[in-house]
This record gives sequence, C-alpha cells and structure tokens, in this order.
Amino acid sequence: MTDLSSKRVVLGVTGGIAAYKSADLVRRLREAGADVRVVMTRSATEFVTPLTFQALSNHPVATTLLDADAEQAMGHIALARWADVVLVAPASANFLSRLARGAADDLLSTLCLATGAPVAVAPAMNRQMWDNRATVDNVTLLRSRGIYIYGPAEGMQACGETGPGRMLEPADLVRRVTGLFATGRLAGRRVLVTAGPTLEDIDPVRFIGNRSSGKMGYAVALAAAEAGANVVLISGPVALPAPPRTRRIDVRTAQQMHDAVMAQIGAQDIFIGAAAVADYRVAQAAEQKIKKDGQALQLTLTPTPDILAAVAALPDAPFCVGFAAETEAVAQNARTKLAAKGLDMIAANNVAVDGIGFDADENALTVCWRGGARELPRAPKDRLARELISLIAERYHETHTTEDTGRTHR
Ligand code: PMT
Repeated sequence: MTDLSSKRVVLGVTGGIAAYKSADLVRRLREAGADVRVVMTRSATEFVTPLTFQALSNHPVATTLLDADAEQAMGHIALARWADVVLVAPASANFLSRLARGAADDLLSTLCLATGAPVAVAPAMNRQMWDNRATVDNVTLLRSRGIYIYGPAEGMQACGETGPGRMLEPADLVRRVTGLFATGRLAGRRVLVTAGPTLEDIDPVRFIGNRSSGKMGYAVALAAAEAGANVVLISGPVALPAPPRTRRIDVRTAQQMHDAVMAQIGAQDIFIGAAAVADYRVAQAAEQKIKKDGQALQLTLTPTPDILAAVAALPDAPFCVGFAAETEAVAQNARTKLAAKGLDMIAANNVAVDGIGFDADENALTVCWRGGARELPRAPKDRLARELISLIAERYHETHTTEDTGRTHR
C-alpha cells in the first residue's frame, strides 16, 4: 500500500548517475498523494537540471543555502519545519560522510540537521566505495542516530562493475516512505471518530452552526487509519473528502450524530470526539421560512444530548478521548471536563489564538489524562494528529493487554 495523502516530502538529490531515477521518484511520490519539494546539491545539478524537478514537483527547486529569493520563498528552516519526512535519494558517499559529521555547509546538509522529521537516505555509489571502511562506519553511525538507510540494491552498476551500490527503485522507496507513517500502533483496533460541526435548523433555510471545518477530526481519523486501525468517521457537514481507508457516515444535527455514534459504539475499542457538537438546538424548528416582521425574534433553545458523556457512561465503554475548545485556563478547564465526563484522555485547544483551532490548518494541543499531561506544540493538524494518535495508542496499550479488546479496563 503506498498512500502518502497529505504528506510533505522534502526530496534531497545529491550528485550521482542515479539522480535521473529521482525524476521518476518525484512522479511516484506525487501519485501516492505527497506534496514534494526538491532540494539539490550543486553536484546533483551537473547530472539533472533543476528545471526537470521543478516541472515534476510543480514547485521551485532549492539549490543554495544563502539565496535571498529562495530563503524568502521557503528558507532552509521553513523547509525543515515543513517536512514530514526528508528523503535523500540518491545519497552519495560524500553526502553520507558529511551527514555523519554533522556538516552544515550547504542547503541539504543544513536542512537535515535542522529538521525534526525523520530522515531517510537511499545510498548510490560504486560497490568499492560502499564497502569501504569509511562508508561502513558512516552508515553505522547514521543508523545509530535514527537515520533510515534504504538499500542499496545489488546489481550492474553504471561504472560496469557488479555488486551493492545501486539506488533502490523509486517504487520501493515510495513503499518504504509510506511505511514510516504506517506505524501499526493501533493494528486491529476499531476507532470511532467524530468530526466537523453539527447544524441545528431554525427553519428550512436557517440554522445554528459553528466554524468547525472538520480538518482536525479528519486528520485524526487518517492518522488512526495509518496506525492500522479500522476507522469509522462520523462527520457533520464539511467540505472535505473522506480520508483514505476510513468509512464515513454523514450526519447533520447533534441528535443524528448521537444516534449514529450509538449505533456504532458497541463494536469500538476507542472513541475520539473531535466534533464541535452544538450544545443547544431550537426547541421547535419552524416548518416554513420565518418571515421578517421588524420585531425581535425569540428562539427557545433546548440542550442536545452530550454524545461524549453518554459514550463514557456506557457500562462497557471504549477508551474515550474528548476534545476541549477553550478560550482561557486551557489545561485547568480541560481537566474539569476530563473528570466531569469520565474520560480517559482529553485534548484541549485554545480557540482564541489566531491561526489555530477552528477552521485553521494548524493547532496546538494540551493533552491531559489522570496522572499525566503532554503539550503538543503548534504544528499542522495532520502532524499533530499523528502525535495525538501515538499518545492515545501509548495510553490505550498501557491499560489493555494484547488479548483484551479493551472493553473492561475501568
Ligand atoms: O474542525 P476544525 O476546524 O479543524 O477545528 C477543530 C476543533 C476546534 C473543532 C477541534 O479541535 C475541537 O476542539 N473540537 C471539540 C469542540 C467542542 O465542541 O469542544 P467542547 O469543549 O464544547 O466539547 C467537549 C467535548 O464534548 C468534545 O469532544 C465534543 O465533541 C463533545 N461534545 C460536546 C457537546 C455535545 N453535545 N456532545 C459532545 O460529544
């Protein structure tokens, strides 16, 4: 399976005859759904022109560290932060050596030092160079530092010799990069996620709603699927496509979301409530459009069911994770909700901060559970969702054995 939906890949290309294969690699990464930015070393540009990679990636190619224009577009620190993964393919013997000694004398080496994302290299070189003690030591050191080493393959080399040193084929590299995200941490578990807003009708044309775009919940659903879970996503009205490998059930109102959740919950191991569910609905929605008569209009609102609290109160409740949309005292209010709703975990976001929370591409979460808390600093929602899912998996597995499907932990 090679699905890289919404993944940001920095592809580093270093000097070597295998650089021509990286053009195909860009194409295949994009076909798998990745957004690809290419960074080339100076010697790589002797083998393939930046224009080729620009055309294939649909983005300008970065080649120098101190290019004022490039730094303005997306400088090395921005690129390092942007990346979900940095893949260097081909990685020459010289580049491996510079990476091993922590060089920061060109854009690609600096970026590898500056990124918090996983770094993978696909070595390509003459077989003697690969077998040389210096390269062997460099590769051992890089591996010990957590750098992924993909390949090399054995076979006929451009220099006419036969042996190890060929860059892995692009399809193989795409599979391996995909594998970095397929953590398997929730393999075989069933996860139910709610996302988006609910809309409560006032009359046939008007409703009470909120600004939830669904981005956070959809990212959580995708991250759970990537972690190997069987995911059902119950979604209010949003403008997003269903994440790959999830089953989506569309609803409109809080009552419909409640009913859909309750119909599915019996089979679930984990419930994650990321939806912004309306707390009130109009007691009696008008059957016809309400006419404007210049007078004040009074609507009687009645509470909607609290879905999360209802799930957590089930006798055989799944592992329950709530979200909390707060505007002040974030951690304190989150803890109050954690206790009041009887949850296993809560992820709180400060929706008063510009650029995060509702309808934003980024978020920041304070995650609390009984006896612990973790700050997940501001980041794109898809990356944050992966961190949250790995934290949920950690906590979930701490409270369940492998045989236990998780319905009796409390
Ligand atoms: O969708 P986005 O634009 O990406 O924005 C993401 C988000 C801000 C909506 C998301 O990160 C978030 O905070 N979701 C929860 C919003 C919310 O309703 O928070 P709350 O503090 O009011 O509710 C607490 C919890 O109870 C939530 O898990 C909510 O789903 C649940 N709830 C609330 C009311 C209700 N009637 N039923 C519920 O299940």
